Amino acid sequence: MRISRFRQAVMVTIALLLVFALGVPAWAARPIRIGFMAPFVGVYTQLGEDMDRGFKLYLDEIGNKAGGRELQVFLEDTEGKPELGPTKARKLLDNDKVDLLSGIVHSGVAISIRDIVVERKVPLILTNAGAPALTGKLKSPYIFRVSFANGQQDLAGGWYAYHKLGFRKMVVIAPDYSAGHDKANGFMKYFKEAGGTVVEEIYPPLSTNDFGPYLTKIADQGKAIDGVWSFFSGSGSIRLVTQYEEYGLKDSVPFFVIGDTVDDAVLPSMKDAAVGVKSYHHYADTLKNPENEAFVKAYVAKYKTKPGIFSEQGYVGAKVIAMALEAVKGDIENTDAFLAALRKVKFNAPRGPFAFDESQNVILPVHIRRVDKVGGTYQNTVLDTIPDVDQDWSPAKMKK
Ligand code: PHB
Repeated sequence: MRISRFRQAVMVTIALLLVFALGVPAWAARPIRIGFMAPFVGVYTQLGEDMDRGFKLYLDEIGNKAGGRELQVFLEDTEGKPELGPTKARKLLDNDKVDLLSGIVHSGVAISIRDIVVERKVPLILTNAGAPALTGKLKSPYIFRVSFANGQQDLAGGWYAYHKLGFRKMVVIAPDYSAGHDKANGFMKYFKEAGGTVVEEIYPPLSTNDFGPYLTKIADQGKAIDGVWSFFSGSGSIRLVTQYEEYGLKDSVPFFVIGDTVDDAVLPSMKDAAVGVKSYHHYADTLKNPENEAFVKAYVAKYKTKPGIFSEQGYVGAKVIAMALEAVKGDIENTDAFLAALRKVKFNAPRGPFAFDESQNVILPVHIRRVDKVGGTYQNTVLDTIPDVDQDWSPAKMKK
């Protein structure tokens, strides 16, 4: 029997369509599900909101698609409480069936889900929580961090305090939990090694609302100190910086702090109390590079407010995930290939060049900043930069 040419053509077309349809892996149609964990109540609320905004801004920019697949975000409020971490992570994994986890502000929350992600082989891309162990003695191929290890920026900050700013005798004040101690230890390392003295270490509770008793202790030091280093973040930083001025310390004992304490997002609440405060961090919204200028413009257009450190970290986290998904053409089901692609991610971020070290923690530029009031608004002006600061940074790594 002779088949007409027309029927032949129809059959070939159907066969080709079938091959094509069957040849397309089943996963291609399914959206990729991202579990995003952050605090939306408590002292770190501002950080959670900013991280989430930055993350979503980048996803918007790419039309919520990467590697040919739609991206869906499932949000969980950790309340900044380590004891809630495992329940929230399990909910995302078991109920929402997410393919990867991201976000997390509080180190304790990140530590609390470490074994879950490692046992279940789920990629975790941290966008803040700096517990050094997660990219140190508890590191895992599944864990990445785009923000910082607590202590990392501080290694360079302590060195800078002594050698470039001339501090000799300081008090350190930080919240009494792992992040506070890890950052303080990082700062003190090369400050002391250079010859600096830490006259007193003060660790108030993370939830401190009234810094009065601690500031009285600092004031009692009188001329025995020439500076104060601090790490407080979110609502804690607003109370600390405003009370520091109220206690008359601002002009007599200069602050030199980690940037979290004077993040761009909290400056409007601190008003003139923050003016003149010097700090160090990987980000400032005034950075002059094309990536930052585009980021700030898009962020302000969408949210009507300037981005801060945590907004940038969320944005960078989303970009890192999307770049790795592009590299594996959306095949997140091939976990090993996706992890390998993550490790290779390199690009120019708003903060400067982005790359992971061998332990999957980010290498950072550390910018020295000063709070200025310009045309009625507050900003962190960049004064200097220490490039390529990794979690094992030492002064020997300074490029001559
Ligand atoms: C942390 O818990 O690791 C942490 C929290 C807030 C920050 C920085 C680090 O601003």
